[in-house]
Amino acid sequence: MKDRNLTPIPLDNLKVGTLAQSDVYSHNSGQLLIKSGTLLDERILERVKSLNENKPMVFLSGLPLSALAMPAEEMETRRKALEKETGYDTVNNEAFDFLNQVATSKTIEMINLKKVSTQLGNQLGVRSPSIVLSLVNALAPVDEYLQRHCINTALINGLMGKWMGLSAEKTNRLALIGLLHDCGKALTPASILNETRRLTTAEFEIIKTHPLRSYELLSNFPEDVRLAARCHHEKADGSGYPDGLPLEKIPIESRVTTISDIYDALVAQRAYKEPRSPFSTMALLKKLAGTELDPELVDVFVRNMPKELIGKQVVLSNGSIAYIREIDTEDIEYPIVIQYGQAIKTHEALCCKSMY
Ligand SMILES: [Fe+2]
Repeated sequence: MKDRNLTPIPLDNLKVGTLAQSDVYSHNSGQLLIKSGTLLDERILERVKSLNENKPMVFLSGLPLSALAMPAEEMETRRKALEKETGYDTVNNEAFDFLNQVATSKTIEMINLKKVSTQLGNQLGVRSPSIVLSLVNALAPVDEYLQRHCINTALINGLMGKWMGLSAEKTNRLALIGLLHDCGKALTPASILNETRRLTTAEFEIIKTHPLRSYELLSNFPEDVRLAARCHHEKADGSGYPDGLPLEKIPIESRVTTISDIYDALVAQRAYKEPRSPFSTMALLKKLAGTELDPELVDVFVRNMPKELIGKQVVLSNGSIAYIREIDTEDIEYPIVIQYGQAIKTHEALCCKSMY
């Protein structure tokens, strides 16, 4: 296992009917599991699974680094399977319909909202935080950003509610606010919303009206929900919009939503930007604590999020796959990963790029 030419790949990549192109070794012991040239059948794969002690990765010999990354199609297949299994795909469709309806009628039809929130609660509310974060962190189609962003902000707000020790009622309220915070964006012209170049100042000014539009659209909702949506772009130092409120005047639901909003927006891939890794995003949130964000809530986020990311697969900046082993909140951008059966401390030149 000290052989640097050994390459980690997911065990699932070994399929019945394919010919092993190289020797395959077990995850921990380095035991030779399959000799190069072996035709894989069910019996062999069953044996490999048991010898691999239920670990999801095996190691191949003699592949170049470029062969390390999981093919994009495989990542896409996994994402779709997880979304189907968890019901995220249904919520995604419901959220699309809901936002379309808002854009068309310029009002919120409770029946449509109820469908989304019921799906969200029924299907995703029971999932573990780790699964929820796999859904949030997956690289999804850029043209579905708005509906996914609303769902993901609701999901992260829900996790924050739990981490803050809030009651189920307050946690559900936070999730609802996450779902609705950007509903005013449905009224922004699609030409601006889907623009792939950097926005002009005039276009950005139009985008900046969306918290007020959310507030107006929510006219039939309790004032605390309306205000929470209105204030989600306020900043702790008073430099946010639309009202330039200082930290103590920003409702706590908004302060939570701002963190979830920024996290999801940064880890998402957009037409005009690369996705940012969860670790680099958490490091940025820490930097913004006190100036833009509520430091106590950032602390809740960065103390609780890492535990849910342990064991997940990441793609490193050299294209190779590794596992998250340990995350130090004081050095949150550079976790320790496992690769080639060995622990590696990531750093600026070898860092985590994306997670799945
Ligand atoms: Fe927003």
